[in-house]
Amino acid sequence: MQKKNASVSLIFILLAGLPSATLAGDSQNLSGLLMECDTCHGVKGVSVVPDQTPSLAGRSEAYLLRQLQAFHSGKRSHGAMLIMGEKLTPQEMKAIARHYSRIRP
Ligand code: HEC
Repeated sequence: MQKKNASVSLIFILLAGLPSATLAGDSQNLSGLLMECDTCHGVKGVSVVPDQTPSLAGRSEAYLLRQLQAFHSGKRSHGAMLIMGEKLTPQEMKAIARHYSRIRP
């Protein structure tokens, strides 16, 4: 329980540290982003069609961050994910990777 609270407040600390222009420019906060991800990846990152869209919950934080960076740079390509990766800031990618890695499916 301690751990969960710590990760939630960490996301808020990360967000609070972002320049407001980043957030205003995106007009989205992290929870808005996560809702978009969950549309395909399942509620809290647990996929209902894992053979098509992989679950994100409980995967290693380093792995998730590497994949987001690869989508972002175009190293790893996928129609839907390329779009998601392009608009994410480095801070958002870190916060998202941390978020999903802390969920216990
Ligand atoms: C339109 C549907 C869709 C949306 C929205 C979406 N994804 Fe995905 N995502 C996919 C699919 C499909 C794959 C599998 C890609 C492939 O075939 O390699 C994937 C793969 C991934 C992977 C790699 C997983 C692995 O096992 O290697 C990560 C990480 C990921 N998505 C994160 C996100 C995040 C974070 C968001 C929100 C910002 C998001 N996705 C939004 C469809 C989506």
